[in-house]
Amino acid sequence: MKHLNQLILFAVALLLCALPVRAQLYLDTKAPIEQRVEDALSRMTLAEKIAVIHAQSKFSSPGVARLGIPGIWCTDGPHGIRAEVKWDEWDQAGWTNDSCIAFPALTCLAATWNTDMSLLYGKSIGEEALYRNKQVLLGPGVNIYRSPLNGRNFEYMGEDPYLSATMVVPYIQGVQQNGVATCVKHFALNNQEDGRHVVNANVSDRALYEIYLPAFKAAVQEGQSWSIMGAYNRIWGQYACHNHRLLVDILRGEWGFDGAVISDWGGVSNTDEAIRNGLDLEFGSWTDGLTEGRSNSYDMYYLALPYLKKIQSGEVGTKELDDKVRNVLRLIFRTSMNPNKGFGSLCSDAHIAAARQIAGEGIVLLKNDPVGKKKTAQPVLPIAQDKKTILVVGENAIKQMTVGGGSSSLKAKYEISPLQGIRERAAQAGAEVRYVRGYVGDIGGEYNGVTTGQDLRDNRTPDELTAEAVAAAREADIVLFIGGLNKADHQDAEGYDRLQYALPYGQDELISALAKANSNLAVVILSGNAYAMPWLKQVPALVQAWFNGSETGHALADVLFGDVNPSGHLPFTIMPELEDYPAHQYGAQAYPGVNNEVEYKEDLFVGYRYADLYGQKKVLNYESSGKTYSINPPKRKPLFAFGHGLSYTTFSMSKATLDGNTLRVRIRNTGTRAGKQVVQLYVAPQKPVVARPVKELKAFRKVSLQPGEEQEVVFELGEQMFQYFDADAHQWVTGKGAYKLMVGTAADAIQSVTSYSLL
Ligand code: BGC
Repeated sequence: MKHLNQLILFAVALLLCALPVRAQLYLDTKAPIEQRVEDALSRMTLAEKIAVIHAQSKFSSPGVARLGIPGIWCTDGPHGIRAEVKWDEWDQAGWTNDSCIAFPALTCLAATWNTDMSLLYGKSIGEEALYRNKQVLLGPGVNIYRSPLNGRNFEYMGEDPYLSATMVVPYIQGVQQNGVATCVKHFALNNQEDGRHVVNANVSDRALYEIYLPAFKAAVQEGQSWSIMGAYNRIWGQYACHNHRLLVDILRGEWGFDGAVISDWGGVSNTDEAIRNGLDLEFGSWTDGLTEGRSNSYDMYYLALPYLKKIQSGEVGTKELDDKVRNVLRLIFRTSMNPNKGFGSLCSDAHIAAARQIAGEGIVLLKNDPVGKKKTAQPVLPIAQDKKTILVVGENAIKQMTVGGGSSSLKAKYEISPLQGIRERAAQAGAEVRYVRGYVGDIGGEYNGVTTGQDLRDNRTPDELTAEAVAAAREADIVLFIGGLNKADHQDAEGYDRLQYALPYGQDELISALAKANSNLAVVILSGNAYAMPWLKQVPALVQAWFNGSETGHALADVLFGDVNPSGHLPFTIMPELEDYPAHQYGAQAYPGVNNEVEYKEDLFVGYRYADLYGQKKVLNYESSGKTYSINPPKRKPLFAFGHGLSYTTFSMSKATLDGNTLRVRIRNTGTRAGKQVVQLYVAPQKPVVARPVKELKAFRKVSLQPGEEQEVVFELGEQMFQYFDADAHQWVTGKGAYKLMVGTAADAIQSVTSYSLL
């Protein structure tokens, strides 16, 4: 009997050995990704599944250690790779190898109007992320520029859905070709920082689809972003991070998104909604666990133990959990377990060159008039050879700007200040540079433990500083005022909106005083937002120079001295006063909201869509999604229109010719320098059956031309250029009838108009 038992055991063992072991398909990098996902999912325990859908530290979520599946490391985003923080704190981890190249802010990228620059940006920052072992880059941001007070506009791509949609796609492709995911943010309607954690955005479906969603849609469908970040705010009364309509109906249902939805840090507040409404990965929640100091506060996350308990008690099933895990696994297979990814690089010469090139191409020359009335009078810029004493005035000429502003703050390997860039270049030209402070603004230089090391204290009074600047200006051949906003709270920073449209720290008075002291004055503004310009008529030259990262000073000097011919164009409209912006026409209800309710009363008429109503006699009244909208035409024209940007050369444009659906226009460099021009196509419905903007940007091309060179730009007309969103039918409708096709170099510089009829 004993022998028989042993024999049976032996036979069973033999049989087991003979059975094929299930292949570890999830490790087979040649297998289709969906098969790998299903295989990995089938091997995971319930606890492992719960673990992978929420954070384990400030910026990471766990993988499945038992199965050799790595976790996910995220990083801000979107202008460089953030320094390492401690496991569970925002403070610095104290690494010495985590500096990066700071690339220009996304407003600057948008201002290049050049998709090649987007691709270069994405490729470069993606390489930095990869080298730093990050799988998810928290960016780019594509929230629409609704109000110039929004403190985070510098992280976004301007006011126009077509421009931002077009510019975001190559950025994503560039990043993801490295096997690093982008996380497009903040989905959606995160258009102000004021009250961002509670505000409920009320917007018509039409404005949602036509203005606020197109860049996200392009990011998902054309860019194929592997992840997306939910916003902090509420929409239709429900938080964006677990908003059923936004994440389930639109993102996955209508757009077919197969990536991971990641919460903004602390954007989750409800387990049931987080389970059901399409969120996959929870980060940054501030739970009881953190204040109570439990052993692992991450267990207290909404998608951690609270979710597990609901499953164990039978209150909810595991279908949603499996879907979330699938989305997270797909993200892992696309990134850390992606067989095609390389190794990346950090602070390479190529990245430095890219940062300088993008910055140089995004800087916008807003104004450049000749000085004096003589026929031979020359514009202030580029700085002429005979200008041997250059005075630089202003705090932004010296202030390190890569530190501050919120989560996009960086520990840059270096930052060339405007003054340093100008000094280096002036030395080559044999010119002498003198610097005076002019005003004292923000002397802080610290963010989460990263410090600039600058001591910007100066106890002199504004009068003393102005007097010094004016006296020095009288002595100089040319004066460069370098000011604007900075990354301090309430200037251009996350978490706070600006409190005023005017430039802070008495800069307006100082600029006027400088203009009186020396007519050879160029004003250079570093900011991510528009601002009032009461001094505009007194100032012959004005440059919009953004926040340009590590290569700020070099790129600025390139443009000021004419080594780079400026070709940036505004991604937003600059109106004279705050009340000239449509969101500021309707009192607190429209901005910043009353009782945390914000009504987007201007509806479609954001930016140039509003400015274009200038001169119309009647109020525009119409119905949309059951609401009545009433748009009062603006009282003033823009100071600088959307799409505006000057060059040191001149261009001429032929009249456009239409052949079927092909529109052709010839553009010629009529000056003496090589330069680039942005040819913009706007489509203007003539007698629309519903209220529509006067015109909308539908295509653009940046053209590079040698002196005397001419090129043809060809636009193929497509149905989507003539569509509007019918909210009641919930579909895009092609508006038949008469149109004007307007080709120009800015929203207010249309040079050719062609009639077109859509039958
Ligand atoms: C910001 C995000 C950022 C995240 C992580 C949040 O406060 O809104 O844009 O990516 O923090 O730092």
